[in-house]
Amino acid sequence: MNTTQSKSVQETKHFVSLESLSLEEIMGMIEESLRYKQGDLPPLFNGKTVANLFFENSTRTKNSFQMAERHLSIQEIPFDVTTSSVTKGETLYDTCKTLEAIGVNALVIRHPEAGYYHELVEKLNIPVLNGGDGSGEHPSQSLLDLVTIFEEFKTFQGLNVAICGDLVHSRVARSNASVLKRLGANVVGCSPESWWDDSMGLERKELDDVLATCDVIMLLRVQHERHIMGDIFSKEEYHERYGLTVERVAKMKDGAIIMHPAPVNRDVEIAGCLIEHDKSRIFPQMTNGVYARMAILNRALGGQS
Ligand code: CP
Repeated sequence: MNTTQSKSVQETKHFVSLESLSLEEIMGMIEESLRYKQGDLPPLFNGKTVANLFFENSTRTKNSFQMAERHLSIQEIPFDVTTSSVTKGETLYDTCKTLEAIGVNALVIRHPEAGYYHELVEKLNIPVLNGGDGSGEHPSQSLLDLVTIFEEFKTFQGLNVAICGDLVHSRVARSNASVLKRLGANVVGCSPESWWDDSMGLERKELDDVLATCDVIMLLRVQHERHIMGDIFSKEEYHERYGLTVERVAKMKDGAIIMHPAPVNRDVEIAGCLIEHDKSRIFPQMTNGVYARMAILNRALGGQS
């Protein structure tokens, strides 16, 4: 059994942020995801194992990584934080190094600490696939969002994208703002002032001023669990001032789409009746997430002996 690999023999293909990937590599992964969706046979990794370590709850990311693993014939080594030695004070590094030592070939990790992966990518010899790091980044969500946009428009160049809502707490916004600008989209942010984040380098606009010209309205979940000062709006107030209402959708241009990483706070970020609207790509995003994660796993495990 080959439990560890020398970094000098093969570069470990971590996937922790899209920042470290070239545009060519990102476009390649988008096209690969869409080929899987169109029925291209994926590579099979019989005998390879992945552990999915979720220190924060998840429906989409965890289950779609698990589905992608099944499509690629990867065996999941079940890992449950609550019954692991994490409860005895084991560090994240020690948990991961243990899984590497027993022969796991890659780790999918979601963790509440932004940048949790820095020590891991320095010291581990197996790939770390970031399933979300606190308010840091969510690169697999970002890749599936790119797949969804590219599937729709066949380009990013010149697309008008508005990222709307709780920007400061959103790892999805951080990942997408950066990569969409690199790919040539015009990206603006629409958010209450107290949830604005200058470090994303976006121009701040009112949603009502950009609705008619946007190709993509990308809504963000209001992250109640990260609001340490409590919520500053009632649900109704937020929906009325910043949410996608039935009235606002009517002002969107033909061909424009609505996205949301989900889970959705119904009737807060978006009217519940719009979640499955013709313009909504919210459930197709989840479908594309499986194919995007197949491409991520293939990149991580392809070529490993
Ligand atoms: N979009 C997303 O990350 O959803 P989960 O928290 O359910 O994984």
